[in-house]
Amino acid sequence: MLTKKIEQALNEQIKIEAESSQIYLSMASWAETQGFEGVASFMFAHSDEERMHMLKLLKFVNERGGHAIISTLAAPPISFGSFKEMFQSLFDHEVMVSQKINDLVDVTLKEKDYATHNFLQWYVSEQIEEEALARNILDKINLIGDDKGGLYLFDNDVKMLTATNSQV
Ligand SMILES: [Fe+2]
Ligand SMILES: [Fe+2]
Repeated sequence: MLTKKIEQALNEQIKIEAESSQIYLSMASWAETQGFEGVASFMFAHSDEERMHMLKLLKFVNERGGHAIISTLAAPPISFGSFKEMFQSLFDHEVMVSQKINDLVDVTLKEKDYATHNFLQWYVSEQIEEEALARNILDKINLIGDDKGGLYLFDNDVKMLTATNSQV
């Protein structure tokens, strides 16, 4: 059984994961309109992953006798300035999500809810991977700057990255 406090905290995380999915979906659409197919497919895949994170939480809450709430989401930005800015905001967003997961883990310890604490370890590991991936891409794009040829190659690189990830 979940305490009300844990249930509420998990529902807040459900909203964050759903909003993450929408943000990356908006990034995908924007990248597609700019002709960057690789970046777009990376973002579409990332959006799907965030939806999976959200669903995993939803199932857990309901399984543990709570009620997972589907709520109104904040609208994501429509355009993202440059690819550099877009990947910077992706990285910043992931850092924020990691912080939220940490806060959530902290609540489970205070409430002595070890089942939820155990469940959340998957998210802790996932955030380490996502931050590393976002940092890696950001480093690459910082090297390229606004060089058109470099961005073209970068787009191809990201396409390969998406193909490799989806095989896992
Ligand atoms: Fe996530
Ligand atoms: Fe994420």
